[in-house]
Amino acid sequence: ELGGVKVSREEIVRDDPTNNVPDTIFSKLGMQLHRRDQHPIGILKNAIYDYFDTNYPNKFEKFDNLFPVVSVKQNFDDVLVPADHVSRSYNDTYYVDSQTVLRCHTSAHQAELLRKGHNYFLVTGDVYRRDSIDSTHYPVFHQMEGFRVFAPNDWEGSGVDGTSYAALDLKNCLEGLARHLFGAVEMRWVDTYFPFTNPSFELEIYFQEKWMEVLGCGVTEQEILKNCGRTNNVAWAFGLGLERLAMVLFDIPDIRLFWSSDERFTSQFSKGKLGMKFKPFSKYPPCYKDMSFWINDSFTENNLCEVVRGVAGDLAEEVKLIDNFTNKKGMTSHCYRITFRSMERSLTDEEINALQLKVREQVESKLNVVLR
Ligand code: PHE
Repeated sequence: ELGGVKVSREEIVRDDPTNNVPDTIFSKLGMQLHRRDQHPIGILKNAIYDYFDTNYPNKFEKFDNLFPVVSVKQNFDDVLVPADHVSRSYNDTYYVDSQTVLRCHTSAHQAELLRKGHNYFLVTGDVYRRDSIDSTHYPVFHQMEGFRVFAPNDWEGSGVDGTSYAALDLKNCLEGLARHLFGAVEMRWVDTYFPFTNPSFELEIYFQEKWMEVLGCGVTEQEILKNCGRTNNVAWAFGLGLERLAMVLFDIPDIRLFWSSDERFTSQFSKGKLGMKFKPFSKYPPCYKDMSFWINDSFTENNLCEVVRGVAGDLAEEVKLIDNFTNKKGMTSHCYRITFRSMERSLTDEEINALQLKVREQVESKLNVVLR
């Protein structure tokens, strides 16, 4: 049951040739980590809610149960993502069929909520992206989208135009949020590009001796508002990744831990307590396996990672290109190092060898590369 809608694999994963959603991903639908008050992702969501409730009493409406299967129109067209943008590719996004995707960002819900008349909203949900494998990347993660609409009388008399007014308000709001979550930190704004906002910014904070990107945001493109029947309005939007923030706030060293049901993980967090520091219960030994093959034109690292995750699931910790060369005939060889490690137990040699054998077989059969 998802968002009040019953879905079965047959209904979602239609037998469509364009479908690229594997079972491992499908099984994550409906887990809703962000709706668990004792889970770091839920605790962080609630702490952000607190900030908005305190500073804008009864203003922001909260949505955390919108269905993650959306149309290409919702995910891309409605937020002006260009037809040739990489994020639309089968290499980056999970397609259920040619017109339906697993949302790759919570911005997919901006337009529908605007059309329904909402002016202040927060949307939290699971988002899906085909990606590499390492300690900070996982093909399912969680985002929170914030959106605020202004009417002309909000900025008239302020001495600045609507866009400048919204940009200033946005920056104040998000600096306050960063202080609410991280305390007195150094911050900086970096100009960037998003198809749906202009101007667009990223907020970075200085944390643990590094500048860290916290979120993306900007003043909503006028065309989006116009398409939703809001010709006279101006708005701002932001989107933040909850895992990235939760990892630093709770000292969680590997993104796979969020999916762990091991009590030694889950019992360390409690409702309403932001920033309890996670104590690793043990670090089990890693096992490295190298694999070399001649690639072909359609080879991508995301496709390789999908094969590895399909075989090893959360036992895959990292997939890293360690060698890359092209011979005189123009053939290119890649060598990848796969790190296997469980967060919960020691793995046996036999187990890892069996996994690696399967990875090798599937890399050959599914990616059509030639093993060396
Ligand atoms: N959707 C953007 C992302 O996923 C984040 C964003 C949201 C940026 C809203 C600007 C405004 O990266």
